[in-house]
Amino acid sequence: MSKVKIAVLISGNGSNLQALIDSIEGGYINGEIIVVISDRRGAYGLERAEKHGIMTVVLDKKEYGSNEDLNKGIQYVLRSMNAELIVLAGFLTILSSNVVKAFEGKIINVHPSLIPAFCGAGLYGQRVHKAAIEYGVKVSGATVHFVDEGTDTGKIILQEAVPVMENDTPETLAARVLEVEHRILPEAVRRITQGS
Ligand code: GAR
Repeated sequence: MSKVKIAVLISGNGSNLQALIDSIEGGYINGEIIVVISDRRGAYGLERAEKHGIMTVVLDKKEYGSNEDLNKGIQYVLRSMNAELIVLAGFLTILSSNVVKAFEGKIINVHPSLIPAFCGAGLYGQRVHKAAIEYGVKVSGATVHFVDEGTDTGKIILQEAVPVMENDTPETLAARVLEVEHRILPEAVRRITQGS
């Protein structure tokens, strides 16, 4: 079976990208990361990709006049690389409906909460964990879902919960949730690449 061509989109540290690289190199996923796109120059995830010989493309948000132009750039790279599966792994640009339509059913995202809680516009990264702690929930977690034209509204693929402790800070909760993300994101990609 030929390997599924995966594009990974990042904005920062890229620990989820690393989990995918490790799962592919370990033979767990029948896929190949053909390109890593970052919307931020200097994102550490770019170094992670380069260490493993993966092609990187920077489409820096700050250098684009508009979100629409940035999305055109993203679409151009995905098309020219013939990406078959697009993984948003800590990617903080909202994809335009043109991109979502062009790759319908082929884009997935990992979000650091149990959707539909603590998600949607403005809730990303540490903000999610801050909101969960402030609300006082006793359980949070991570979700992998398909991307549709809404923000964090697509069909859920996998979810896993973690406890929220009395003395948690956004950082300690983020670390606990990331452990789950690093498991369920590769598992979702494995299932999709196997067609199950
Ligand atoms: C992860 O927690 C991911 O779920 C979150 O950003 C972090 C990126 O970490 N994504 C969002 O909040 C998207 N709404 P990483 O760069 O180490 O993979």
